[in-house]
Amino acid sequence: MYRASILVVLMTVLLVQPGSSPAQNPLGEDGVAPENVAPLMRRKLDRAKNILEGLTLEQFDKIASNARSLRLLSMEAGWNVVQTEEYRKQSEDFRRACDSVEKSADAKDIHRAALAYVALTVRCVECHSYMRENKIKLAGLDFKNH
Ligand code: HEC
Repeated sequence: MYRASILVVLMTVLLVQPGSSPAQNPLGEDGVAPENVAPLMRRKLDRAKNILEGLTLEQFDKIASNARSLRLLSMEAGWNVVQTEEYRKQSEDFRRACDSVEKSADAKDIHRAALAYVALTVRCVECHSYMRENKIKLAGLDFKNH
């Protein structure tokens, strides 16, 4: 009998538990954003590496398709997590650099493609440096400005 009532209490506690303490997500609803942003940003690195591979092996299709893919990535919603004029400008420069890599590959001009790739890499570094200088930190979940 004693055991039975303990069981009842235990079951009640277990059953009530989920409702009485709603899942506490410290990130709130914004918690979805970083999950989307980091993988998207990571994909850039994959594409950039693929371009380098294409350049070294003279695989123009690989260069062109990855440059195109990079440009398209920059138009996804997750890319525009920072809404400053400078970020918009950096993104535009980035797209132009992607374009230039793609066009050089389409023209089967390996040297121009290599130079365009260097310019593209500079875009990566410039934008990241802008983020750091202005302490715009997304991975740290500082979404106060959004
Ligand atoms: C217009 C701005 C911009 C450009 C250009 C840019 N990035 Fe980023 N990148 C970001 C932002 C914003 C983040 C997220 C920063 C954060 O989480 O604090 C990021 C993060 C990353 C990360 C880290 C992802 C993670 O795991 O957290 C990698 C890797 C990366 N970028 C690679 C690249 C590469 C490679 C290029 C060039 C081909 C590039 N980025 C160009 C804005 C840019």
